[in-house]
Amino acid sequence: MGSLHVPLLAVLIAGVLCQYYDYDYQPYQPYVQGISVRNCAEECDCPPEFSSAMYCNDRRLKTIPNIPHGIKYLYLHNNQIQDIKAAAFVNASDLRWLVLDNNHITSGAVEKGAFEHMKSLEKLFFSYNNLTEPVLPLSKSMVELKMIGNKLSKFPPGTLSGLENLTTVHLQENQLTTEGIVGAFKGLKSLIYLDVSHNKLVKMPSGLPSSLEVLYADYNDIGSVPKEYLMKLPVLQYLRISHNKLADSGIPAGVFNVSSLIELDLSFNKLKSIPEVNENLENLYLQVNQISKFEVGSFCKYIGITNFSKLKHLRLDGNNLTRTSVPNEAANCLRLASEVTVEATD
Ligand SMILES: *[C@@H]1O[C@H](CO)[C@@H](O)[C@H](O)[C@H]1NC(C)=O
Ligand SMILES: *[C@@H]1O[C@H](CO)[C@@H](O)[C@H](O)[C@H]1NC(C)=O
Ligand SMILES: *[C@@H]1O[C@H](CO)[C@@H](O)[C@H](O)[C@H]1NC(C)=O
Ligand SMILES: *[C@@H]1O[C@H](CO)[C@@H](O)[C@H](O)[C@H]1NC(C)=O
Ligand SMILES: *[C@@H]1O[C@H](CO)[C@@H](O)[C@H](O)[C@H]1NC(C)=O
Ligand SMILES: *[C@@H]1O[C@H](CO)[C@@H](O)[C@H](O)[C@H]1NC(C)=O
Repeated sequence: MGSLHVPLLAVLIAGVLCQYYDYDYQPYQPYVQGISVRNCAEECDCPPEFSSAMYCNDRRLKTIPNIPHGIKYLYLHNNQIQDIKAAAFVNASDLRWLVLDNNHITSGAVEKGAFEHMKSLEKLFFSYNNLTEPVLPLSKSMVELKMIGNKLSKFPPGTLSGLENLTTVHLQENQLTTEGIVGAFKGLKSLIYLDVSHNKLVKMPSGLPSSLEVLYADYNDIGSVPKEYLMKLPVLQYLRISHNKLADSGIPAGVFNVSSLIELDLSFNKLKSIPEVNENLENLYLQVNQISKFEVGSFCKYIGITNFSKLKHLRLDGNNLTRTSVPNEAANCLRLASEVTVEATD
């Protein structure tokens, strides 16, 4: 937070630091040195105690090795693979997980039909390559898709259609445009988690399924949230739109006043006032905006002995507020809060 130049003082009702929920995890099984099972590709390892897995990661491979029948988990990350031939996965009809992160694969070098054979694929990790468009077709059994850090500018409507079990999609760090993702997520009735952070969106993604619980759209150029946007996402709990271009004019009255939200991150935008939120909200991040008034009523509907806000974390540092902007009734309202930061700590 080097750009803050307000006096360095903190109002901390208690000292717990802001906890960002982190959904990331390492999908990779620990590498096990093992005797190769019969038919294991000679460049790879197939540990006997986990014989449906083939480990080919971190070996400077330039091509995809032969895949024996029966392999379910294939690890090809951290290599120098440049292309995928049409026949590369002919034996991969049992494959459940395919990890291709950190290679040099461009969309033009993925031969047509290469993905057709993987009828059982559930997880495809294709981050940090050079894809400009998604690979097709994806298996109907897909559950999780990660294509972080590629050069995707569009994600055509048919790409994910009919993937009834798809729950998680990571598309951050690409070049996706608002037009490029129109219709991309329609009809995905199991979708829970969508990350489109670090892209080139100027509007909130549209047509999202009503099953969505987590939506991350940080680091884009989004200037507004449509009036009924959250009405169509009745179970959305975590919404992050930090580092965008949100101003008060782009936030219709009451747009965040929905009872499902637990976390709302609007930090690093251009807001001048605190938007109204529902009393169920627990984490509200508004640091580094242009807020000059601490309006208790925005996040606290009634202030009394028996009812008060559920907020646990409220960050307002990096705004035009000082300790004296905090009205006395704030303490009553924020009884459950373990962190309220009004002025910058550092
Ligand atoms: C497919 O399996 C056959 C028989 O197990 C094997 O000979 C062949 O090399 C495999 N092809 C690929 C592309 O993995
Ligand atoms: C992606 O392609 C560009 C050229 O189009 C190249 O300079 C770059 O090294 C490639 N990156 C990877 C990860 O392959
Ligand atoms: C979706 O998941 C269910 C339950 O695990 C399974 O029975 C069904 O076959 C899956 N659908 C597809 C298209 O794989
Ligand atoms: C906020 O939502 C509640 C219901 O959850 C509703 O009673 C209240 O009128 C709303 N406030 C505004 C200003 O729309
Ligand atoms: C909360 O406070 C309001 C206004 O004082 C009151 O009408 C309401 O009944 C209270 N709700 C509860 C659950 O105590
Ligand atoms: C910042 O707050 C002070 C005092 O509340 C006010 O006089 C000033 O106009 C505000 N500046 C901006 C840019 O809102």
